[in-house]
Amino acid sequence: MTKVLINETLVDEQDAKVSYNDRGYVFGDGIYEYIRVYDRSVFTAQEHFERLLRSAKEIGLDLKYSVEGFTELIQELLAANDVINGGVYIQVTRGTAPRDHAFPTPAVEANIMAFTKSYDRPYKSLEEGINAVTTEDVRWLRCDIKSLNLLGNVLAKEYAAKYNAQEAIQHRGDVVTEGSSSNVYAIKDGVIYTHPVNNYILNGITRMVIKTIAEDKEIPFKEETFSLDFLKNADEIIVSSTSIEVMPVVKLNGESVGNGEVGPITKSLQEGFNRYIDVHS
Ligand SMILES: Cc1ncc(COP(=O)(O)O)c(C=O)c1O
Repeated sequence: MTKVLINETLVDEQDAKVSYNDRGYVFGDGIYEYIRVYDRSVFTAQEHFERLLRSAKEIGLDLKYSVEGFTELIQELLAANDVINGGVYIQVTRGTAPRDHAFPTPAVEANIMAFTKSYDRPYKSLEEGINAVTTEDVRWLRCDIKSLNLLGNVLAKEYAAKYNAQEAIQHRGDVVTEGSSSNVYAIKDGVIYTHPVNNYILNGITRMVIKTIAEDKEIPFKEETFSLDFLKNADEIIVSSTSIEVMPVVKLNGESVGNGEVGPITKSLQEGFNRYIDVHS
């Protein structure tokens, strides 16, 4: 029987229930992480839990767990579900209290929920690339917080699905920010460009790994904003996340990116990413 973590208890999937007054359910008042598992090893766990704690701090949510505490809870869940390759989703809400926008006083215990998924890496799309479309970024101004409020992201992804694309690349006016669930890179003349880390994007863990790989390989990595036109004229485009890794975009708004094939810098970063997984799993 598949187990789900509810607070500190592993419960059978069908018994994993939360109150209708859970603030995550009512307000989206909470935060989350999604972490990858390769060969039973939790990939970049430290970085993910540090980001979870940062998100908690940014929304004024007091957590009694440390990085180590979370890691232990998650390891237990992964072992119970015998996950070899896959991922673990973990969310924390501000707890259960009668509906009122302001924080409950006195504060209530946070609610923690985590579940696992078993699946392989997306080998086919990593090799062939995916289609993306562009769309206006209508989200709030704290995209650095990995908040449960994902309506803007959901609508962007749905827009992509409508046009048979796998990702929507968002832009605020002319400035390209990030994908609906990924970071975005435009590669031009051997240089990787990506939006700087600030409140307009999530500081992706995969982005940090890609930055390290690019530096190791001495591929220039510029954290600078770029325009929609620059993206459209890029030689290569990548989107990255925990689940899609270093994913090439070969079509943007129905037009080929560069020569329409997965480019050399993308391949080099993918090779570096495979090695990084080997070393760090
Ligand atoms: C909006 C957004 N940006 C970027 C990312 C990539 O982050 P990471 O590499 O940590 O998965 C995600 C991942 O879910 C995301 O939702």
